[in-house]
Amino acid sequence: FLRAKASSSKTMANDEVTGGSLKQQLAKLFEESLRITVPEELDVDPAIAPCQNPKFGDYQCNNAMGLWSKVKGKSTQFKGPQPIGQAIMKNLPASEMVDSCSIAGPGFVNVVLSRQWIAKSIQKMLVDGIEAWAPKLPVKRAVVDFSSPNIAKEMHVGHLRSTIIGDTLARMLEYSNVEVLRRNHVGDWGTQFGMLIEYLFEKFPSGEVASDQAIGDLETFYKASKQRFDSDPAFKERAQRAVVSLQAGEEKYRKAWAHICEISRRGYEKVYQRLGVHLEEKGESFYNPYIPGALELLSKQGLIEESEGARVIFIEGKNIPLIVVKKDGGYNYASTDLAALWYRLNEEKAEWIIYVTDVGQREHFEMFFTAAKRAGWLPAEENKYPKASHVGFGLVLGEDGKRFRTRSTETVKLVDLLDEAKSKCKAALIERGKAKEWTEEELEKTAEAVGYGAVKYADLKNNRTTNYTFSFDQMLNDKGNTAVYLLYAHARICSIIRKSGKDIEELKKTGTIDLVHPDERTLGLHLLQFAEVVEEACTNLLPNVLCEYLYNLSEDFTRFYTNCQVVGSAEETSRLLLCEATAVVMRKCFHLLGITPVYKI
Ligand code: ARG
Repeated sequence: FLRAKASSSKTMANDEVTGGSLKQQLAKLFEESLRITVPEELDVDPAIAPCQNPKFGDYQCNNAMGLWSKVKGKSTQFKGPQPIGQAIMKNLPASEMVDSCSIAGPGFVNVVLSRQWIAKSIQKMLVDGIEAWAPKLPVKRAVVDFSSPNIAKEMHVGHLRSTIIGDTLARMLEYSNVEVLRRNHVGDWGTQFGMLIEYLFEKFPSGEVASDQAIGDLETFYKASKQRFDSDPAFKERAQRAVVSLQAGEEKYRKAWAHICEISRRGYEKVYQRLGVHLEEKGESFYNPYIPGALELLSKQGLIEESEGARVIFIEGKNIPLIVVKKDGGYNYASTDLAALWYRLNEEKAEWIIYVTDVGQREHFEMFFTAAKRAGWLPAEENKYPKASHVGFGLVLGEDGKRFRTRSTETVKLVDLLDEAKSKCKAALIERGKAKEWTEEELEKTAEAVGYGAVKYADLKNNRTTNYTFSFDQMLNDKGNTAVYLLYAHARICSIIRKSGKDIEELKKTGTIDLVHPDERTLGLHLLQFAEVVEEACTNLLPNVLCEYLYNLSEDFTRFYTNCQVVGSAEETSRLLLCEATAVVMRKCFHLLGITPVYKI
């Protein structure tokens, strides 16, 4: 290998410690070098990746090969990828960030970051705060369409997944300075309202507004009305007429509809409150007035055709077309989604529209995205904005390997699930004698944070596209990759700092970090990689990337803490600051995952 020490004879680049994604910072440096090395190829973006083998360095620039295929035969200067790599290395502006570079294989430029620079950066992060450390994303405003239960029907485990995953995506984007419109696209429109309303009128013939008590459990109400609908033709007819009256905006029907929605809303708001999730409801009914206009646009472009009495859009490669107007003239899920997409792009000026549902709906999204591309609403290219993305997730399985159900009922009551997680955590805390040490409130708050955190983390840590097994035993284990383990690890770090008796705020101002031990350097570098991990998790819409990072970070911390004495050592100040930085980054991860950190265990 050729090894070059970053020399100071070259013009000094802006070597200030700036924060943000390391990859993005390195890319800036390499961008400059590429401009000098191959001035004729200015549209080439620096390809920066972590080194596969840490022996060679921390990061590498992989542009030489690709550039060679572009300049081959044209360039008199270069005879292969290796010389290009060498030139990239030579032209790299000197920076405090880089300690040394080397060339490997066909022109990879390996970079070893400077230990001092890493230390300085962590210190700056502590002083500036982690908010200043966010990655930069190429969009200003995004819609995250998530949770989205259906009125009067059960809110099932799939909706829980959508709520948890969608909330995390929204949080990560918000952290990255994207304005996020958190949309609850509730199913509050459709033919089922005819039978619901008719049943309501039947039960309360004198027209008094039904009390919540009387409607009671909406699910039971829904089932009862469905049974009437299926068994009584006269009722069915009245129900169908009710739909027409509702859609025509008749006062009496509107009121009944609003009442049913309100009761349903109160039910799912309870779940959101528990989970600490915030959403803004714009249900299917909201987009109803926009459907004719949206379809008109598509029709003008010749996208909509007549087929078997329905109006449809044929999509290349699909056997069945996308139905946008049903045989009976009514609109459906797809027409609503097309109108909603139009609204989000044109009225709300969103550049990225993200839909979180189970993978079962993939086809639906593929089809209407394709229609929108053909209409020119979205660019045909994958990586251009505005963009629509479907975030599909797998099933939740029970420990028997079948679709998750609770023992007593056929469906899972979400609130019960959260209650159970919390009470199990509380029992574990009491068993460890905490009832004697803590107030009842502390006990409750901790049990909630750990219990709900465990449910969320167990979901988020898996690649969302795979099915996962719901197991209280697994998610509440205090060893291994669980929220319980991670929350405790964080609390332990806080206690190390507390017990040192030092004023950490003071140390942040006066102390310096020096990464002497290799395990300190590893931990330090890992801390700085936080922003680029968030960037990756956002770009690929994969929360598990952040979970993996968090878990590895806590492992790096453990290694550091095992091999480096903190309190009472000569490096105490530096190491306490490193503890604090770890706690800060862990807390931010928890926050992005919607988990409340605990400080005492
Ligand atoms: N209500 C739908 C369901 O429960 C999910 C809606 C997803 N969002 C959308 N824009 N299609 O399956």
